[in-house]
Amino acid sequence: MLKDKNIILGVCGSIAAYKAATLVRLLVKAGANVKVILTSDAANFITPLTLATLSKNPVYTQYFEEETGVWSNHVELGLWADYLLVAPASANTIAKMAKGLCDNLLTAVYLSAKCPVLFAPAMDLDMWAHESTQQNVSQLLSYGNILIAPGTGELASGLHGQGRMAEPEEILVFLEQLIKKGLPLLGTKVLVTAGPTYEAIDPVRFIGNHSSGKMGFAIANQFAAMGAEVTLITGPTAEKSAQQLRRIDVLSAADMLDACLREFSEAKITVMSAAVADYTPVQAAAQKIKKSEEQFQLQLKKTTDILASLGKLKTAQQILVGFALETENEEVHAKAKLIKKNLDLIVLNSLNDKGAGFKMDTNKITIFNQASEKTVFEMKSKSEVAKDICLEILKLL
Ligand code: CTP
Repeated sequence: MLKDKNIILGVCGSIAAYKAATLVRLLVKAGANVKVILTSDAANFITPLTLATLSKNPVYTQYFEEETGVWSNHVELGLWADYLLVAPASANTIAKMAKGLCDNLLTAVYLSAKCPVLFAPAMDLDMWAHESTQQNVSQLLSYGNILIAPGTGELASGLHGQGRMAEPEEILVFLEQLIKKGLPLLGTKVLVTAGPTYEAIDPVRFIGNHSSGKMGFAIANQFAAMGAEVTLITGPTAEKSAQQLRRIDVLSAADMLDACLREFSEAKITVMSAAVADYTPVQAAAQKIKKSEEQFQLQLKKTTDILASLGKLKTAQQILVGFALETENEEVHAKAKLIKKNLDLIVLNSLNDKGAGFKMDTNKITIFNQASEKTVFEMKSKSEVAKDICLEILKLL
């Protein structure tokens, strides 16, 4: 669950700082990339050397290293993190976070971070119970920060009560559960097609189209980020696929059909975003065609409509989504394709929208469902569009 997740662990001045060593070890063992930020007080309780060794990364303690002048960019650190975990979170740091004070690297990173923030308080029971601390905690919760509540037991002061930082093992389980909840498609099998197809004319020439595959790859990545097990069948493209995708490369519409028919029954969700050729040469010449006559006729035959074939095979448990690329009468054509191909959703791209279509990094889509309801989206980056498409599909589950 934590594999390849980027985690910043903020450690504050508290005796519980010694537990940060175990926490870092557990996170690293679970496959996370961990960078530690120590407040100056925390460095009195645990050394940067210990945490740097365990995290295999330099430990950050201040905005810049006095000896080398190397500056630690809080904005970059904040953006690097998938999760910011403040553990132990002292009463002092909680108060600063609540009020937006920014007098050290940890609080600057907190204000810069766009990722979920978790905090595991550690303090004496009276400090924890104090109204100002409780108000600060409520304020952090109101910002969407996530509390890993302190436990009850014997405290460093010898007193007994609430204020003990959650154990590192509990924090790990908490984080894993949180990630799991954010993965609505965990274990769901998804099939996505992308890119163009190339229809051979002879050994050196083909009929293709301008599809870059960007949209399909973005959809596949988005599904993977939601926890799905994604198979990506792609035509020729320069796009690189993320490691977690199972990628099948194909060339022609016929190859793509074969691959789709092999994979389809396993998939709960199938999104057909490939730009499949509608026609292919009746026969590809075995040798390079020599130039001779002034005019040259190429005989083409229809390819199988892959999406329509899958629509016929679709069971009630499966979701099938197609694309419609149109240049005129867009809505009418898109709705007709949805019905004809037995789809659950159709994503309409109009080439009339500037910034939409082939090779662009942006797209503008409208989605229709079986009830002919339409959702119109703004022009967005293809990764944001992919997210919109995946969220619309999630609504059908
Ligand atoms: N599609 C397919 N197999 C084909 C052609 C298209 O699976 N041989 C799929 C595309 O992947 C897309 C959808 O069908 O999801 C619509 O493609 P589009 O090119 O817009 O429409 P066509 O059905 O090919 O009709 P036309 O070209 O006449 O608009």
